[in-house]
Amino acid sequence: MYLTKEEERIYDGEYGWTNQICMKILVRLGELFNATKLIPIESAHVSGVSYKTLGDAPAEFLKALANADGKAKVKATLNPQSFDPEYLSRKLPEHVRKKQLNILKQFEKMGFTMSLTCTPYYLEKPKRGSHLAWAESSAVVYANSFLGAWTNREGGPSALASAIIGKTPDYGMHRAENRQPNVLVDVRTSLRNEAEFGALGSFLGRILGDKIPLIQGLKDVSEGKLKQLGAALATTGMVNMFYHNTQLKSGEMGKISVEAEDLKRTAESLSTMSDAKPDLVFIGCPHCSINEIRQIARLMDGKKVKTGTEFWVCTSRYVKEKAREHVKKMEREGGHVLTDMCTIVSWTETLGIKSIMTNSAKTAYYAPTLNKAETIFAPLKQCLKAVLGG
Ligand code: F3S
Repeated sequence: MYLTKEEERIYDGEYGWTNQICMKILVRLGELFNATKLIPIESAHVSGVSYKTLGDAPAEFLKALANADGKAKVKATLNPQSFDPEYLSRKLPEHVRKKQLNILKQFEKMGFTMSLTCTPYYLEKPKRGSHLAWAESSAVVYANSFLGAWTNREGGPSALASAIIGKTPDYGMHRAENRQPNVLVDVRTSLRNEAEFGALGSFLGRILGDKIPLIQGLKDVSEGKLKQLGAALATTGMVNMFYHNTQLKSGEMGKISVEAEDLKRTAESLSTMSDAKPDLVFIGCPHCSINEIRQIARLMDGKKVKTGTEFWVCTSRYVKEKAREHVKKMEREGGHVLTDMCTIVSWTETLGIKSIMTNSAKTAYYAPTLNKAETIFAPLKQCLKAVLGG
């Protein structure tokens, strides 16, 4: 891989240990994927922020990087951590809180923005055509498919290295020839809600691997439904981008048809229990937009959350502040609008939560393993019906 004179000096350690380590990570990655050079990025987004999934050894490594004067060269944002600063923070053991806050401190020292969200594009949209190094798979699909930005699906360490160096190896989704659709998907049924868009993503992800689908036949699409589709595609498969309802000339492509029965079976496989009395009803995977918060507040319509059931809606601090009038309404009725955190990487077992109902195919897919919880996968309206009393 070609390196400029300055990149070589960083590689040789002339700019300190942290820069050297980060440059080595990027060069190794570039060599692995036959990149010819490094290219500048507009921003990096790092995952692996939760102490629950990170653990102690990587947390020590972060500390070493920060102590050796590692500083982000570009705008660098963070995925959610394991609890929100108020509601759950008070319920968790002190040693867990300390470990988590220490991780955040290291990132802050390195100049990362404490965004703590998986929807950084609601805070600031990357420029069309810009190159990014983002590590949250749902955000990667969103950036490539809807924002016109170009990013590979980075791992936590490579996104961190890119933040420090300000560059990424030029391969994969950074090259125009790899961004063409290569399989046509014909959806032969009408999808009625966001959960069915998620089920479609979950179904296709399993079949497509890392292909780029052109999905035809989607009706009544919205930003929120496409976000669910993209997040689920990236959960069960390695899909980094999709096109929908466009006429692209792309030569010979394989074709997949999706019938109503495929989606029904996929949706059923995402529920492990049928009893509609979950310990937790959770909305906000990926984190909610202002529109989604507004919709939930409207649908709650002054009804109270049932005693004995938790109702969490996750979003970023930015969106919570912008939607504060709706948030107030929801919280008045007993809902919790939680920022900075992700239920999947939070300590739900410690909190005694054994069953989770959600409209997110991604959460329903991961919760049985990562939260050791039973799941009920259902659209928003059904989730609200389960959690709201009169
Ligand atoms: Fe976001 Fe967590 Fe879902 S990071 S996409 S809320 S699994």
